[in-house]
Amino acid sequence: MRYVIIGAGAIGGVVGGQLAESGHEVVLVARGAQLAALRETGLRLTTPEGTRPLRLPCAAGPEEVDLRPDDVLLLAVKSQDSVAALDAWSGRPVAGGGTAGEMLPVVCAQNGVENERLALRRFRRVYAMCVYLPAIFIEPGAVSAAGDPMTGVLHLGRYPTGVDATATAIAADLEKSRFAAPVVPDAMRWKYSKLLSNTLNSLGAVCGAPALSAPVGLDLAARTMAEGRAVLAAAGIEAVGEAEHMAARDGLVVQVRMESGAAGAGSSWQSLVRGTGSIEADYLNGEVVLLGALHGVPTPVNEVLQRLANEFARERRAAGSMPVEEVAAAVAAAELAHRDTA
Ligand SMILES: NC(=O)c1ccc[n+]([C@@H]2O[C@H](COP(=O)([O-])OP(=O)(O)OC[C@H]3O[C@@H](n4cnc5c(N)ncnc54)[C@H](OP(=O)(O)O)[C@@H]3O)[C@@H](O)[C@H]2O)c1
Repeated sequence: MRYVIIGAGAIGGVVGGQLAESGHEVVLVARGAQLAALRETGLRLTTPEGTRPLRLPCAAGPEEVDLRPDDVLLLAVKSQDSVAALDAWSGRPVAGGGTAGEMLPVVCAQNGVENERLALRRFRRVYAMCVYLPAIFIEPGAVSAAGDPMTGVLHLGRYPTGVDATATAIAADLEKSRFAAPVVPDAMRWKYSKLLSNTLNSLGAVCGAPALSAPVGLDLAARTMAEGRAVLAAAGIEAVGEAEHMAARDGLVVQVRMESGAAGAGSSWQSLVRGTGSIEADYLNGEVVLLGALHGVPTPVNEVLQRLANEFARERRAAGSMPVEEVAAAVAAAELAHRDTA
């Protein structure tokens, strides 16, 4: 199988780089400064084993890739970029007949729970991947991942449920590439569980990672996740329990010292650092807010985090520049407003 990595940033760069290192055919699809750097100097991949330069085929989009029946599309863009990417690729012809949407598997290697639904509108063969892979991309051409001895844990299955030969074959390739890749019939249960922790991405992005371990930050984090649990319960959505999720990551030691400063703040923080102008909050906190609205559960903390993260991205404010006390004050005001309108 050949892996066409759509969005060669932190996750796409690391997964694509390691698949290539273990002998698999890989095409990296990128844009902007990242594409220019990949073309000029190649991919610089850093893991606890060291830094190595990789020269891999690159493309700006589907017009530069002759799709083959053995291609696997691995979608690794942020959720807010999924529709554009899926639209660009789904109608492309595949050698031998049919379009990508009809013929090729697409694996959503992303956080949140909306991407698979977006993909299934355009692709017949959709796979959900729960990505536990702490990775960093803040400088064009360079990606790093601090997991050791495995780089990450990637639960994978057919969407909406089930396992098949394709999922098993992809997992086997990942397992040869220093990932743990359990094939599971209920990958979305894993992704809903991960969603709860990813609602903290916005807090890390606007306040910085250290704020998350301060008492005010810890309290906000607990309330953010409690809202998430409450909406899942109200919606009747089953998620893997936190203990089971933690146990699945046993053995993956994250070498946070490798990239001091950048580690721990998460992928939304990296969007602010790179000044991309957009952030994933509508699909993380926004998912909780959406479910809360549908099922009558108040979600003031997630609403505030979603709003602040979007403001930071839009106005290109510095990552981590808001004191966590200011977030707490905004949450208190939102809770008051909720009570007044209730
Ligand atoms: N980073 C982590 O540690 C981590 C861990 C677990 C899960 N995740 C999840 O994995 C997903 C990917 O995150 P990430 O951190 O890898 O994102 P990322 O570093 O921002 O990488 C995504 C890349 O895709 C590019 N892109 C967007 N649309 C494209 C298109 N149509 N064609 C080609 N390239 C395109 C982006 O370009 P621009 O830079 O121009 O936007 C960016 O370079 C997210 O859902 C994230 O939440 C991330």
